[in-house]
Amino acid sequence: MTRVAATIAIFTSTTLPALANDWGMGAANRKIPQTSIFTTVSTPGDEVVTLALFVLAITGVIFVIVGGLLAYSVVRFRRQPGDDGREPPQVYGSNPVEFAWTTVPVLIVFVLILTTARTIYTVQAAPRPADAIGVHVVGHQWWWEFQYPDLGIVTANELHVPVSDPGHPTPTFLDLESADVAHSFWVPRLAGKTDLIPNKKNAMWIDPREPGTYLGQCAEYCGTEHALMLLRVIVHRRDEWERWVASQRQPASQDAAVARGRAVFESTACINCHTVRGTVATGQFGPDLTHLMSRETLGAGVALNTPEHLKIWVNNPSVMKPGALMPAMNLTDKDLDDLVAYMVTLR
Ligand code: CUA
Repeated sequence: MTRVAATIAIFTSTTLPALANDWGMGAANRKIPQTSIFTTVSTPGDEVVTLALFVLAITGVIFVIVGGLLAYSVVRFRRQPGDDGREPPQVYGSNPVEFAWTTVPVLIVFVLILTTARTIYTVQAAPRPADAIGVHVVGHQWWWEFQYPDLGIVTANELHVPVSDPGHPTPTFLDLESADVAHSFWVPRLAGKTDLIPNKKNAMWIDPREPGTYLGQCAEYCGTEHALMLLRVIVHRRDEWERWVASQRQPASQDAAVARGRAVFESTACINCHTVRGTVATGQFGPDLTHLMSRETLGAGVALNTPEHLKIWVNNPSVMKPGALMPAMNLTDKDLDDLVAYMVTLR
């Protein structure tokens, strides 16, 4: 009994407060149309839905037949009053029955194999158009790195792509790998899952038809914060996309008013892990911060990216994301305020 009480006490004192604070993400995510594998807006996703519905239909028919026969037998052959208790006649070695229950499942499985193979081929063999957008995705514990080699852009956790309309298809082709353990890139409304494996490159593509924001997440257990390795894909109208690219290609802002905060940044361990283009910070371990404030979220979707949250995060990321590999920076209040004031200018 004391153990039950202790469990309840631990749960209410630690887990509930952690669940209670979503750092603004609940409200932000509610503005985004709900994620569903059945409301796809991209060809690879459509292919997966078609196949899934086909499999559901076949397995649904099997379920109804098997369940119906079972229910019928249970009712029809239930124990009657005056039952003599003897076993009914047993049937062994009926060739027609055994032939039927061997061939029918084999045929069904064969049809499922063929349709699955066809779907995989349709998605994987799609040719890459010359003006496709290329993105190199690197999975890290526990965040996503997005590099656009042709555009000279590096960002994190929020993948920006142009809309791909039928009149002007501009699909995005992604090649994915991991910096540490296995992860899986999954944005249900755009495509199926693609694993990110250390020392191996996998490839996938998306051609979103509708502008908007699409939620995704890591779909392969990758350690403590697997559940908070979230991502979003922002699909832009063409003019918006061009504006986003132009702004991301700019060097980091250099505002003299926050020179002290920049000095704090450049003289602490920040620069060992983070890059801010145009400064001494060239670290590769953590996300590129050159345009940090252009991102809506912090810590791979853990918190809304506001100055207040940024301050909590820099001071001690574990408050928001227990197990995060970024250490608590242990700065003085003055240094922390100045540092955050500088970071807020990285638009
Ligand atoms: Cu990365 Cu789970």
